[in-house]
Amino acid sequence: MVWSTPRNAATLTVSAKEDIAEGVVSLTLVHPDGARLPDWTPGSHIDLVLPDGTTRQYSLCGDRWDAHTYRIAVLREPEGRRGSPLSERNREPGGGSAYVHDRLRPRDRVGVGGPRNHFPLAPSEKYLFIAGGIGITPLLPMVYQAQLLGADWQLLYGGRARASMAFREELTAAYGDRVHIVPQDELGLPDLAAWLDTPRPDTKVYCCGPAPLLAAVEAACAGWPPYALRVERFTAAARTAPVRDTPFEVELRRTGRTVTVTPELSVLEAVRRAGADVLSSCEQGTCGTCLTPVLEGRPDHRDSVLADHERAANDCMFPCVSRSRSDRLVLDL
Ligand code: FES
Repeated sequence: MVWSTPRNAATLTVSAKEDIAEGVVSLTLVHPDGARLPDWTPGSHIDLVLPDGTTRQYSLCGDRWDAHTYRIAVLREPEGRRGSPLSERNREPGGGSAYVHDRLRPRDRVGVGGPRNHFPLAPSEKYLFIAGGIGITPLLPMVYQAQLLGADWQLLYGGRARASMAFREELTAAYGDRVHIVPQDELGLPDLAAWLDTPRPDTKVYCCGPAPLLAAVEAACAGWPPYALRVERFTAAARTAPVRDTPFEVELRRTGRTVTVTPELSVLEAVRRAGADVLSSCEQGTCGTCLTPVLEGRPDHRDSVLADHERAANDCMFPCVSRSRSDRLVLDL
């Protein structure tokens, strides 16, 4: 896998804040000096470090060819548990989304880490994009990209009500009947069976939304070819027990130290105690921040980021949640 994991957050300025749907605001972020921002690709997210110190992850949903601005969309979650497809991992009540909605103003400065992309758009002639609510945000740049490349694509976009569905008008105006809007209060839930019951080997399915939607799409795609479906989760997937409940060793090849990881320690804690500098954010295996290259050994992957074929490669892991199958892991730390 190719990952971009910047170690330092940049300081950007909020240049615009706009209500774009019921309970959803968009933020436009620019460099204070008007400088160019790091490139990104559809599916990327940034870490937003708010002035009150909280950090949240939000998908970039603007124009990737505009090198000077980032756009994100933030759903208000009264309990502060969800602000975007990536931020439910942040569990503090009254957290990031309330701050963004109530206190953040144009001209405020925020910290921005990334962009990182663990939901990249793979090449395909046909795509089916399935969005639930604010889960539209990572899919929006994918739709633009698919259109730009002349791919055959459809978007199935479900939401609580039309007024709550961000970018609905923009999408339908630009793409007409490629976009299928399904407000639950008018039409009920999207008819996934009609869309997914027949596997289509030439089509890739990208889905982002709440856990019940992802579970339903995963079940409906069970008969599809391997790797046809990619999802981005609001929350960490349910984790089974670790493969082993005995200690194992982790060698930090570059640091030249070896640590023993006991069952009550995470690999992240253990390597930090050994002096390794590993950046983390969610510590639930969803954001991708702590990605660490694996040189030897077999990780027990327990994250919600990697696809099956990426796990099978055993060349990287997320030490905040993942552990080891083998007696020894060698990490590039
Ligand atoms: Fe988020 Fe490890 S810190 S995946």
